[in-house]
Amino acid sequence: MGQVITFAQQKGGAGKTTVLAHLAAAWSKAGKSVAVLDLDPQQSLAQWAQLRDDEGVELVESRDYRASSDMRSCRKKYDLTLVDCPGAAATLLDNVIRETDLVVAPVQPSAMDVWASRTIIETSTKNKTPCRLLLNRVPPRFNGADDLIATVVDGGGELLGTKLGNRIAYSRSIMTGQSAQEISPRSLAASEISGLAKEIEALLKI
Ligand SMILES: Nc1ncnc2c1ncn2[C@@H]1O[C@H](COP(=O)(O)OP(=O)(O)OP(=O)(O)O)[C@@H](O)[C@H]1O
Ligand SMILES: [Mg+2]
Repeated sequence: MGQVITFAQQKGGAGKTTVLAHLAAAWSKAGKSVAVLDLDPQQSLAQWAQLRDDEGVELVESRDYRASSDMRSCRKKYDLTLVDCPGAAATLLDNVIRETDLVVAPVQPSAMDVWASRTIIETSTKNKTPCRLLLNRVPPRFNGADDLIATVVDGGGELLGTKLGNRIAYSRSIMTGQSAQEISPRSLAASEISGLAKEIEALLKI
């Protein structure tokens, strides 16, 4: 049986699709079979996957009303199933998180963005699904880390140790169906993603 990771965050533009695509590319490169499910009507993940020439990353068509059953069949077939969840979708979120092994909620380093993660944290807790916030687009000189960590803990959340900087390689690579590791293997973005992949592998005991 494979594992299922859902990327969810109510706040738009937090980095769900970008982070998911980067991890899909990294795990495919490492020889894992990866399914990506795009439950967001914007279909940006689907566009990225279609641009990609990669047998290791399969775009599995799904719709919100059959997301749970699609996730269950993918779990049987692929090493990793990565689900891109649209922001505001309460019922869908509940069904999707129930079928998930780990929820990753990207969040930009501001208190308001952390507060916006509340529904994701609560829905994960209710379903006993582990959930981790991921600080994304962290500026180079970021001083408020301690306060922000306190805000996360106060909200019942847990943070991943890995943080992602605000780096052009993340956005540029997506345009061509690639990842930062592919267009710029020695970049800081590339090393951040390999650190993130390792941290998640350890959490899921892959
Ligand atoms: N670490 C980063 N560094 C630079 N740009 C980033 C980073 N993460 C995301 N972006 C950019 O921020 C924008 C929003 O990212 P993305 O589309 O992945 O967020 P999202 O949570 O999927 O948004 P939505 O809620 O609209 O689906 C995109 O233009 C993306 O290229
Ligand atoms: Mg998105």
